[in-house]
Amino acid sequence: MKKLVVSGGKKLCGSVSIGGAKNATVAILPATVLGEGVSIIHNIPNVNDVSLELRMLEEMGAKVRLIDKKTVEIDTTNIVSPTVSYELAKNMRASYYFLGSLLARMGTASVSMPGGCNFGVRPIDQHIKGFELMGATVEIEKGMINAKSEKLTGTHIYFDVVSVGATMNVMLAACKADGLTILENVAKEPHIVDLANYLNSMGAEIRGAGTDIIKIRGVKEMHGAEYTIIPDQIEAGTYMTAVAATGGNAIIENVIPKHLESITAKLRSAGVTIEEGDDWVRVNRVEPLKAINVTTMPHPGFPTDMQPQIAAMLLGAEGTSIITEGVWDNRFKYIDELVRLGAKITVDGKVAVITGGAQLTAAPVKATDLRGGAAMIIAGLCIDGITEIEEIVHIERGYEDVVEKFRGLGADIKIIDTPDEIIAKVI
Ligand code: EPZ
Repeated sequence: MKKLVVSGGKKLCGSVSIGGAKNATVAILPATVLGEGVSIIHNIPNVNDVSLELRMLEEMGAKVRLIDKKTVEIDTTNIVSPTVSYELAKNMRASYYFLGSLLARMGTASVSMPGGCNFGVRPIDQHIKGFELMGATVEIEKGMINAKSEKLTGTHIYFDVVSVGATMNVMLAACKADGLTILENVAKEPHIVDLANYLNSMGAEIRGAGTDIIKIRGVKEMHGAEYTIIPDQIEAGTYMTAVAATGGNAIIENVIPKHLESITAKLRSAGVTIEEGDDWVRVNRVEPLKAINVTTMPHPGFPTDMQPQIAAMLLGAEGTSIITEGVWDNRFKYIDELVRLGAKITVDGKVAVITGGAQLTAAPVKATDLRGGAAMIIAGLCIDGITEIEEIVHIERGYEDVVEKFRGLGADIKIIDTPDEIIAKVI
């Protein structure tokens, strides 16, 4: 079993370079299917969700060649299978983007129900509603989502909830539909704009990504394209929060500061100094952290994917902080793990109340999900002692080179791999 071992108590200093956005990449890789030809995608993050999608593409018949660690060439000329199997889809969410892209390319798609972080029920009704309004039939049978359409037709779709996944999936399906598709009440995250930019570079006609209304004029042909993924807003925010939590002073490089504004604003209210450059931010904390209230919301609000990390930082703030989760029904599972470390937090529904300043002590904990795992690292970095984090597979799904990057900032962190036989003998 692999564990992360964090020996905390050091201020993070120096610099860290941010990789490509995971949640953009996991939509852009399925989008390559739309252009019959070769795409070269730069700045892909080296994380498990990306490796899985590259394997899905290979199983469909695409030729995938890693040019270097961050660049992949994908030739989708000979896609022959419209299927994403359970084996590959069970551990990640974004496999469902193949529904939209395969439906548009082949008129049929069969994708296993997705896995991914468990935040309670994660419906996909809005994806299905969009496909059906464009003329597809969608059935769920034996754990597979089967979508079919002789011809997708552009139409007006008003989403009932703001959904990143539904916005991207229906955008993919609409690229080659007959006529104009108008999407309203859409998500506006930076990765929505990144996907639209890639699709447009492949010959799609998409306008309005990043606003409340997206218009897609269907085109007959799309081609491969060369594209560079934007930096990961949440990876950047995670390191910013970690530096602030430890009272450190470091530069977070290769970021788009505009994408970080909601995070920067909250850190500043907590007493952290943030300086912004063209493609970097410097985080410096000298004063004690102040308690703050945070409510997560779709972009441009404070991202739900930063909620566990800022909660971990606020354990060290003076006073009471209130965190309200505005996107997911159940994104507080990780709090039980923070409580194991001595944190004083009470949860009532979607609200967590943190009494800052409690004495934290090292204990074994687990990563309950991707960002919950990041919160364990941040808490561990602030504790004088050794925190062991289990189930790090969640962290590896979304953070590239996490050990190397934290070490580069001066953290004492390593992965240990205890063979299961040894554990069995001890038991
Ligand atoms: C994406 O998930 C991200 N995942 C999540 O990031 C992120 O938390 C989320 O967007 C919100 O920003 C990927 O991009 C792979 P949603 P997604 O559809 O698309 C409800 C991370 O940590 N909803 O925007 O699955 C849903 O229940 C991960 O990197 C419906 O009701 O999220 C939720 O309350 C975790 N019906 C809300 O909308 C639907 O059909 C937002 O979900 C779809 C969603």
